Amino acid sequence: MSNRTFTMIKPDAFGNGHSGAILDRIIKSGFKIVALKLTVLTEEKAGEFYAIHKERPFFGELVEFMSSGPIIAAILEKENAVENFRKLIGATDPAKAEAGTIRKDFAEDVGRNAVHGSDSDANAIIEGSFFFSSLEQFQ
Ligand code: RTP
Ligand code: MG
Repeated sequence: MSNRTFTMIKPDAFGNGHSGAILDRIIKSGFKIVALKLTVLTEEKAGEFYAIHKERPFFGELVEFMSSGPIIAAILEKENAVENFRKLIGATDPAKAEAGTIRKDFAEDVGRNAVHGSDSDANAIIEGSFFFSSLEQFQ
């Protein structure tokens, strides 16, 4: 069980002005930010990041959305980070997310769902390295 996970504040939440509130909720939930940046994904980079979904019917839409505006990428630290963070963000579809979760409160729909959270320790490392060099990560 690793103590780090990777997240993005997606273009919908960034564009709607929710970045500060989401970061505040993440910090108040006990996660420490150990890497942070604002960036914009090209369609190529978004496709690379979500390559695991390339055969899914929503892939084109996902890539278009994720490259449609700025995102905030971060590496977060807490015990059992991957599982605890996915609990904090809630279900992929905000209509099914529990009350008090970030997606329930800030997401628009299953596609525009405010935040990303890694789904395993291995992917947390791969995804964190996709955005951050070791110099950009607090050790
Ligand atoms: P994420 O990777 O972004 O944290 O989301 P997740 O694990 O909860 O969901 P995942 O199955 O990995 O799907 C990745 C992203 O694809 C978009 N999606 N759209 N239109 C649809 O039915 C659909 N299904 C998934 C969402 O933006 C989801 O977060
Ligand atoms: Mg996922």
